[in-house]
Amino acid sequence: MQPVEVVSPATAAILEEKIRSRRARVGIVGLGYVGLPLAVEFAKAGFAVTGIDISAEKTRRVNAGDSYIADIPSSTLAPLVAAGKLRATTDFSAVLELDTINICVPTPLRKTKDPDMSYIVSSCQEIARHFHAGTLVILESTTYPGTTDELVLPMLAKGGLEVGRDFFLCFSPERVDPGNPRYQTANIPKVVGGCTAACTRVGSLFYAQALETVVPVSSTQVAEMVKLLENTFRMINIGLANEMALMCDRIGINVWEVIDAAATKPFGFMPFYPGPGLGGHCIPIDPFYLSWKTKQAGIEARFIELAGYINGQMPHFVVDKVQNALNDAGKPVKGSRILVMGVSYKRDIDDMRESPALDVMMLLQRRGGIVSYCDPYVPSLKLDDLNLESEPLESAADADCVVIVTDHRAFDYRLLLEKAPLIVDSRNALKGVVSEKIVRL
Ligand SMILES: NC(=O)c1ccc[n+]([C@@H]2O[C@H](COP(=O)([O-])OP(=O)(O)OC[C@H]3O[C@@H](n4cnc5c(N)ncnc54)[C@H](O)[C@@H]3O)[C@@H](O)[C@H]2O)c1
Repeated sequence: MQPVEVVSPATAAILEEKIRSRRARVGIVGLGYVGLPLAVEFAKAGFAVTGIDISAEKTRRVNAGDSYIADIPSSTLAPLVAAGKLRATTDFSAVLELDTINICVPTPLRKTKDPDMSYIVSSCQEIARHFHAGTLVILESTTYPGTTDELVLPMLAKGGLEVGRDFFLCFSPERVDPGNPRYQTANIPKVVGGCTAACTRVGSLFYAQALETVVPVSSTQVAEMVKLLENTFRMINIGLANEMALMCDRIGINVWEVIDAAATKPFGFMPFYPGPGLGGHCIPIDPFYLSWKTKQAGIEARFIELAGYINGQMPHFVVDKVQNALNDAGKPVKGSRILVMGVSYKRDIDDMRESPALDVMMLLQRRGGIVSYCDPYVPSLKLDDLNLESEPLESAADADCVVIVTDHRAFDYRLLLEKAPLIVDSRNALKGVVSEKIVRL
């Protein structure tokens, strides 16, 4: 329940009128995978948008209409920049001119698996230096429940401004799925919860101008928890699929066939698939925000810890498969040439963050394998002290074993099958193909 509040109708009404008439000056802090698409949607909706980022390279590229996010073509960005609807800066004094601010900065984990709040803190400190009454602020970075009220609010209210009266503060989880052609920023329903009812109302009105569906909830904490439930659900179910794969492997059953057959049930089942391990900036990380928070409340998040353990075993399992396949072919892994197909953390994108491919490559190398890779989205990468460049798919002919780690649609699997002497397929990319060359997860 949100507290009954005394709202200054004037401040809220003025801001709401600016939002409705699209005269509100929109600010997006952090122009990455989340922030740039959001900035583009609001610019497309007719708002004047200012992006603020600490990266001079990113702001330069935005101002040149040159997109660095695969889901935003430069042909979409450039006309918005040319029309004066979108600009970028590294200078936080732009906040003085803004009516709304969305914060989309990173929230990684520290090595200890504790939340790293430093990006939220430093961006909010900068915002606070130039903050003024009449502004709507929305935190979008994934974080533990309580962050908006306990961490962000005190920084913004420091100057004596009162939330819900002088300014408006919400949390709205970002659900963008890079590389998904069907669901993008504009048509993914937007959950929003404010510190007060007026905050929720103003935040919902804001999103409704550019996004198709807005889902208001009763508090910032509920909105924060929604994101953690979604990603924890995914992480645990992938963990279950991975454990199924380990069990099926041990007793000689094809796990992919099992999942596909189970997925024919029209209710009560949703397929998740095994793979070489979790990757990306969200699924391997966000659930630990929740377990960190609940630990403080005396509750061990046991599903999360268990799924984290099983998912963490998968790169080892894939490497064992490679080693066994090579052994069966009479070649020890030491000295064998192994080509890894796909190194980004999921198909059809260029994002390498937390990619299990790096673990697979590292483990193979430690066992003495000579590792190379092929990925049209990742031209080069660094593995320990080694600088590698993407090899052409044809180089599969020179490998002793090929491992499919990320199943990009751009790969010519027919050609791969022709060239490679041995294939370990950790994604079922060669579904339906019968060949003695293929070892499946
Ligand atoms: N990428 C995704 O698919 C995705 C999906 C849902 C939620 N999220 C969440 O959204 C948030 C942002 O993720 P992302 O993938 O866009 O990250 P990103 O690394 O792509 O972008 C973050 C941007 O913030 C900038 N930045 C860092 N510190 C800053 C500061 N103090 N002031 C201004 N800018 C700063 C960085 O230069 C970078 O451009 C994270 O909390 C993430 O968990 C990401």
